Amino acid sequence: MAVIVQGPSPGSRDFALGLSKALDYNLVEAYHKTFPDGEAYVRVEAGPQEVAVVVQTFSRPQDTSFVQALLLADALRGLGFQRVVLVAPYLAYARQDKRFLPGEPVSIAVVLRSLSTAGYTDLMTIEIHKEEALTAFKGNGVSISPYEYMARQIGLDGSYIYLAPDVGALKRVERLARALGARYDYLVKKRDRITGEVTIETKHLDVRGEKVVIVDDIISTGGTVSRAAQLLLEQGARQVEVLVAHAILAGNALEKLISAGVKRVYAANTLPPHSSDLLQYIDVSPLVAERVKSILSGVE
Ligand code: R5P
Repeated sequence: MAVIVQGPSPGSRDFALGLSKALDYNLVEAYHKTFPDGEAYVRVEAGPQEVAVVVQTFSRPQDTSFVQALLLADALRGLGFQRVVLVAPYLAYARQDKRFLPGEPVSIAVVLRSLSTAGYTDLMTIEIHKEEALTAFKGNGVSISPYEYMARQIGLDGSYIYLAPDVGALKRVERLARALGARYDYLVKKRDRITGEVTIETKHLDVRGEKVVIVDDIISTGGTVSRAAQLLLEQGARQVEVLVAHAILAGNALEKLISAGVKRVYAANTLPPHSSDLLQYIDVSPLVAERVKSILSGVE
């Protein structure tokens, strides 16, 4: 039998509740506090059992969420748990998956190596940006693609055109569009590695009168999606909606999306929700529950 441990990061609670309901495992809330000097502290009262499933999303402040996740692994190992699974619906640092400029770290590899060293035997996340990055995790690492599940929940179908905002995102869009029997394409995006500025180049797409869905893993500043939406509406798209795994929505991202003319953003519940009529959250915890069940029963 396994126990679900609800981590302290904002956004973990609802996800942990969803998992515990779908899997019928007991839920234990980790106690946490911050020492007067700013250091994190956690404590778990559970066990001894064989398996613990920690739910800790890497919401802001990401570094605290990360350190709490490390501490939870050690706490559970200390209690005698043999298998400690981390469900991190959003895993921060995933986009720095290579040295874009000399002197940079491969941040996601550092994060994944540290999580294995701290004691996690398994890691499950939603859309890690580049699946290859998971090789840095020593145990069983799984990235779950949420898009088809989300599209079916919402009722997005083959009547829409699905677009990747850059060629790197094409595979995920292709997989989704094929599953839905829909048309798909990609835009040409360039990002200045120093300033972070995004330009989307005009590429002729016949979107006149069409309903378009932009599919991306993350909306952070909103720069990528708002530029893509503007371009598509200029090219005659009837409406532009967005399907995204992680709605970070930093700074004035929501305003940018609204003024770009985006009709709706469908986001997975991997992070604490923002309140806006533009947004609709889809609970993907049942999808993760299925995968947890299969790894624990040795199916994958
Ligand atoms: C980039 O490779 C990602 O897939 C997203 O397109 C990007 O991180 C979105 O960031 P922003 O919202 O700041 O443009």
